[in-house]
Amino acid sequence: MYNKLKNVSKCSRRSFLKATAAMGAALAVGPAVDKVEAASRAVTANGRKANMPEGTKSIAHRTLGTGTAAFEVSALGFGVMGMTYNRSQHPDKKQCIRLLHEAVDRGVTLFDTAIIYGPLNNEELAGEALGEFRGRVNVTTKFGHEVVDGKATGRQDSRPATIRRYCEESLKRLRTDVIPMFYQHRFDRNTPVEEVAATLKDLIKEGKVLHWGMCEVNAETIRKAHAICPLTAIQSEYHLMHREVERNGVLDVCRELGIGFVPYSPMNRGFLGGDLNEYTVFDAPNDNRNTLPRFTPEAMRANYRIVNVLQRFGREYGMTSAQLALGWLLQKEPWIVPIPGTTKLAHLDENLGTLAFALGKDEWKRLEDEVTAIPVTGDRYNAEQQKQVQ
Ligand SMILES: NC(=O)c1ccc[n+]([C@@H]2O[C@H](COP(=O)([O-])OP(=O)(O)OC[C@H]3O[C@@H](n4cnc5c(N)ncnc54)[C@H](OP(=O)(O)O)[C@@H]3O)[C@@H](O)[C@H]2O)c1
Repeated sequence: MYNKLKNVSKCSRRSFLKATAAMGAALAVGPAVDKVEAASRAVTANGRKANMPEGTKSIAHRTLGTGTAAFEVSALGFGVMGMTYNRSQHPDKKQCIRLLHEAVDRGVTLFDTAIIYGPLNNEELAGEALGEFRGRVNVTTKFGHEVVDGKATGRQDSRPATIRRYCEESLKRLRTDVIPMFYQHRFDRNTPVEEVAATLKDLIKEGKVLHWGMCEVNAETIRKAHAICPLTAIQSEYHLMHREVERNGVLDVCRELGIGFVPYSPMNRGFLGGDLNEYTVFDAPNDNRNTLPRFTPEAMRANYRIVNVLQRFGREYGMTSAQLALGWLLQKEPWIVPIPGTTKLAHLDENLGTLAFALGKDEWKRLEDEVTAIPVTGDRYNAEQQKQVQ
């Protein structure tokens, strides 16, 4: 099942120099959030050793879930979505594949996609780029949004037979024989969570899926699901501008039950990176930020004060606003693994560079307090999208 790497990844001199520089910076501010490891070490993805070509870098790892649900991955993942879907213009497929390979080179072992992204073409891209690395890197995907003849219907369908069909189709598109983690993308009001969990339990027993997770569900649903088949991770929106999971019991239940947490849109869809502002024009047919109240020009103008806080704070430590947004999530819990998306090598290096920095609890608290003092303008979703989350 585990292919030997064909295109042996090369540790580029540039990435080495960048990592070395970042490590130097880390020394200046104290122990790193997650230390960059100097030597390669074998990834024990899925509990088995994979081949590690000489020269491939290794970054810090974290474990999502516990017991039989434990899943070891790089401390930062890579969200593939924006390479085809919802993030305006993107480079062509060849460039995206090259960037995904650069991420593998740098030690990223967690890549995130979903059937609905595209639909289908995001999984296809992930399969084409990363299928050859299966067993060494993990491409997680998601079912639930109904897709008929390659088109989204806007409905949910998590009936057992549909999950099974989606699983078979995802396996083909991802060019693998086992899905490292299969998430339910959105709660399906017509299918009891117990049925969904039982279906995943069977798929895990059959060896088609290794782990499972759920997105945007409440604490009660998590308890019910976990009792039937242990969950590895919950994937919901969480970042400095949206901290609902701290208040609605989701992080508490993850802590109590030993479930990992994967914050999606960790930079608030790029906003906390500082490149977006009231003048940004989104590509209407391929960007859902056009539909989000938090991304109107007025809301972005008001919310830019938060980016200003990050930028000012970052100047004290030699960090960028994107690194502070990611570092803030990483320091919250050792079982949190953010999945930032990018189409740019410079941003990939910047985001991974976060792992080399560490601020103390007091500094993070100071940043958090300053950000919290600024009210966030605009809801994260419009009314229709909000109906889909529990
Ligand atoms: N479960 C769910 O319901 C759900 C929902 C949404 C997303 N997701 C997952 O979460 C992943 C990430 O979410 P996302 O794309 O919405 O949000 P994000 O990671 O917060 O932001 C991505 C955007 O940030 C920009 N960016 C990346 N690094 C940057 C940097 N260092 N400085 C400035 N800008 C930077 C990227 O633009 P460039 O291309 O220019 O770098 C991209 O447009 C997705 O790929 C997907 O896998 C899951």
